[in-house]
This record gives sequence, structure tokens and C-alpha cells, in this order.
Amino acid sequence: MIEVANRLKNVEEYYFSKKLREVAFLKSQGKPIINLGIGSPDLEPPIKATSVLQDSLADEGAHKYQSYQGLPELRDEIANFYKKRYKVNLSSQTEILPLLGSKEGIMHISMAFLNPGDEVLVPNPGYPTYAAVTKLIEASPVYYDLTEDTNWLPDFIALERLDLSKVKIMWISYPHMPTGAKATNKFYDEVIAFGKRHNILIVNDNPYSFILNDKPISIMRYRNAKDVCIELNSLSKTFNMAGWRVGMLVGNYDFVKAVLQVKSNMDSGMFYGVQKGAIEALKCSDLWFVSLNSVYQQRRELIWKLATDLNCTYDKDTSGMFVWAKLPPHLKSEEFTDLVLKEHSIFITPGTVFGSNGEGYIRFSLCASEELIEEAIARV
Ligand SMILES: Cc1ncc(COP(=O)(O)O)c(C=O)c1O
Repeated sequence: MIEVANRLKNVEEYYFSKKLREVAFLKSQGKPIINLGIGSPDLEPPIKATSVLQDSLADEGAHKYQSYQGLPELRDEIANFYKKRYKVNLSSQTEILPLLGSKEGIMHISMAFLNPGDEVLVPNPGYPTYAAVTKLIEASPVYYDLTEDTNWLPDFIALERLDLSKVKIMWISYPHMPTGAKATNKFYDEVIAFGKRHNILIVNDNPYSFILNDKPISIMRYRNAKDVCIELNSLSKTFNMAGWRVGMLVGNYDFVKAVLQVKSNMDSGMFYGVQKGAIEALKCSDLWFVSLNSVYQQRRELIWKLATDLNCTYDKDTSGMFVWAKLPPHLKSEEFTDLVLKEHSIFITPGTVFGSNGEGYIRFSLCASEELIEEAIARV
């Protein structure tokens, strides 16, 4: 028996990787499962993106290794996108690094900046990958509380009381996943000042800013952000291109250079056609965002009804592609979602997947058609 590395003893298989096997098994037994668990967009990408991808297959060099930094045209288009959509100026030469999805950026940033024993501030609740990757690097997650009382924003007084001497990175993500909470200008100013004061790299993971959100924000718009912040962004949710694996990292030249040092040793560039398609997606007009959000808006109305029928409560002033709902008092998240799966064949995510502060909450995804959500309502 060949022993696996010690680092694997610190992390479990990803919740969805396990749970979706169970859901697939139930389906194979003939159960008509409605999946409201995972945030994998079911809508089509922009038509221009797919047609350009197809057309690009015959281009010269289309099947060769590509540049580690992506095509210059892709970086230019990311710079245009940031300028147009967030009012942020970035140098396409030095401040942008295309990624194979933003998830890989979490690993690359951690590899670039963490040593074993370092500490990392991780939101509870939050995207589970921040803590998992931290552990794989043999650094330690230090969970910071987010609660409904503070609209899921961190309490900086509590953070200041911590021993921050070993903390190198703080992960933030607004619009927040899983709660959909939006951040304020005051929060961005505070978190940047906090990072500068304690020499902590602030990483804003920002894949949901265009979903059900009137005012998309990049942390890079705030004063001094380039001194201590990196932002991750993605085409997965904004353009329904999750399987294409296109994301990006933006930040100052030194940060980009450090991450590129890791990344260029791990992959050999993004497929040319995918880059060409991504360029077209980034060029989409306002109409794209309006029509995408009108679909999510209608779905969300129905999910709110489903949540009400399940005796849950929720905040309507949220963004992103999930509805975060509070269970009636004393109900446990996993028991509740297991019961709904068993009784109604509806898969919903228990809030505890995102940390202990998710206890008492469940998360519905908006990545299912209105018909399916109506069917779920009928079953309940
Ligand atoms: C908060 C958050 N960050 C990052 C990701 C990863 O997205 P990508 O497809 O760009 O890797 C997800 C995906 O669900 C997410 O919810």
C-alpha cells in the first residue's frame, strides 16, 4: 500500500463531489431528482462566444501550446471589461493574468504567498475551497465570523483583537457566497486599511458581481487597493461558461508576477479557441446582462415561494445566483436537506457546507428552469 501524503489527511473530498454521487445513485434508481444544490449555470453562453470558438479551430497555431499569460487580445479585453463595467484602470501588460477558472487562482495565490505554518483568515460561512487549499499548503485557516446581525460583513473590532502576527492572506468574497450579502463602500475602505495595517494580502473573490446586482463593484476601485489586494474574477457565472474554465486575476505587477511564477510551472496555457470565445463574451453589450438577470429574477421569485412553503425566511436584498434561507428555529441544516431529498427528491445545499455559521440555513441555487422550480413547489 502506498501511503498518500500527510496533507491529504487534513482535507476531505469536496462536499458536492460526494453528494452528487449519492444524487446520481438516487437518479439511477428512478428518483426524479430536482437539483437546486449546485451553482452550475444551465443557460447558454453568448452565441458569439461559441461561434467564434468554432471558427477559430482552423486558425494557424490554434492547437499549439499558448502563452502562459494568455493572448494579448484577451488581456486587452479584460482591461476593457474592467474599465467599462467597474470603472477600474488596469494595465493589460502587467496587472492581469487570465486563469483556468478562478478556483485555480485560489491554489496559485496560496502557493505563491504561503509557507507551512502561516495563517489565513477565512470567512465562516464562505466558499469551502479557501480553507481546503490553505490546509493543502500546510498553512492554517483562522475562521472569522460572518453573521446575519452584521449583514454577513466582518466585525473589524473582533478581527483586531486576534493575534495577526502569522496571518498572510485574508479571503473575502462580495457579493457573498453563500448568503448573497452585498458589501458597502465603508467595508472596502476598512478591509484595505486593515490589510495595509497588518501587512495582510486581501484577496477579493468576485465571481457573482453581475448576477442580480445593480452595482457591480471591484475592490480595485478603492484607494490603495493595488497596494494590498488581488481580485479573482470569472466568466463562469457572468457568461454561463463554467465548463470553459476561464477566469482572471488582477492586481499589481509584483502580485501577478509571483502568481505567474507558480502557474507557469503548473499548466501550459489556455486553449486558443477558449480564449477567442472568452474575448467575445467580454465584449457583450448591456443587453446580455439585462436578459440574463431577467431570467434569474423570475427564478428567484419562484425560489422565494418554495422557501416560504418550506417555512423558511430570507432576505430579499441580496445578489448572486443563490437564495440563502433561514430554517425555523431548532431545525438542523443537514437533517432538513436530507429529509427534503428523501421525501420530495429535491436536492438543496445545507448551510453547514460553508462553515459552522451556516447551521440553521440552507442554500437554493437559481440554476434550474422555472418549470423545475414550479415542479419542486408542487411537490412540497
Ligand atoms: C465564491 C466562489 N469562488 C470561486 C468559484 C469558482 O469559480 P470558477 O468557475 O471561476 O473556478 C465559485 C464557484 O462556484 C464560487 O462560488
